[in-house]
Amino acid sequence: MTLNEIATIREKLLGDLDAITSMSDLEAFKLAHLTRKGTIAALFDDLRTVSREEKPQFGKELNLLRHSVESRFGEQEAAIGQSAGIAKTIDLTMPARTVPVASSGHAHPIMQTLNEMVAIFEHMGFAVEYGPEIEDDEHNFGKLNFPPEHPARDMQDTFFVKPDAGWSGTGTSPLLLRTHTSPVQIRLMERQKPPIRAIMPGRVYRNEAASARAGVAFFMMEGLVVDKGVSMADLKGVLLSFARQFFGNDAKIQLRPSFFPFTEPSAEVDVSCYICGGKGCRVCKYSGWLEILGSGMVHPNVLSACGIDPEKYSGYAFGIGIDRTAMMRYGVSDIRNFYENDYRFLEQF
Ligand code: DAH
Repeated sequence: MTLNEIATIREKLLGDLDAITSMSDLEAFKLAHLTRKGTIAALFDDLRTVSREEKPQFGKELNLLRHSVESRFGEQEAAIGQSAGIAKTIDLTMPARTVPVASSGHAHPIMQTLNEMVAIFEHMGFAVEYGPEIEDDEHNFGKLNFPPEHPARDMQDTFFVKPDAGWSGTGTSPLLLRTHTSPVQIRLMERQKPPIRAIMPGRVYRNEAASARAGVAFFMMEGLVVDKGVSMADLKGVLLSFARQFFGNDAKIQLRPSFFPFTEPSAEVDVSCYICGGKGCRVCKYSGWLEILGSGMVHPNVLSACGIDPEKYSGYAFGIGIDRTAMMRYGVSDIRNFYENDYRFLEQF
């Protein structure tokens, strides 16, 4: 045994230790080198063969060898033990947890319905316009040909921003939450002269008791076409085309006489039941028809109020409830489901 040999063995053992990555190899190393029958103990035994004068020198080198190997062994044991511990708590082979679609984000069923309608009308050449949700009485009612004492202005239907501010009939125009998207028609006609061909989607508000069929806030989409020679036949054609694209190619529509202050004549439009095809079922209450929207020819008073000459121009308009249509389409029986944000409900769309 020479001092050189001891140094070489030390380097070799430290190198071997550094290369070890598993607990079992570390255990094998310990058995081979650090036990009573191991390499290092054998070197100490060899001290007997060293001369008396040289002993202190050799003893010192051997101790250095043992200490450095033991302390490096300790470091490796801690490092490998730690990663083994992590591997015990995290099973890297476990299948990943899938992220449910609803929580990773998709459009709300009402927005899906709205987006689809908007796309259909855009393809038919309609522009998309928007207006404010806080309106004044003048746009929400007055210029839409609602007389000052009309019952639709009643406090029960309208949320006024300042409840005691009075009607436009008194000379002021109190602020309110719009009760329909029809005021956007007025704003559009005030700033754009015919030809006009636009849809106007948005949120509207009604001061009503919330029920399965009606909420205090919901979505509507207005349609307006004003040009020379526009007739009821144009309205019918566009709505039939819409119904076929939205409800299916076999869809039919029917117009029933109705009343709105801002249209004359006015019509309620039904679409043939998409469930039974018109034969009669629970969804259409055995009538074969589903009511989908209100419509009519723009009243001459409305055109005049916006500075459009009713002798030169005519127009049609329609207003469709988005929530109701979405309910019909998806077979949802309570409108409140759409606004509760219950994950179990939303993930179905
Ligand atoms: N504004 C009506 C409502 O809130 C819907 C409506 C009916 C809009 C007929 C129109 C229309 O443009 O022509 O129920």
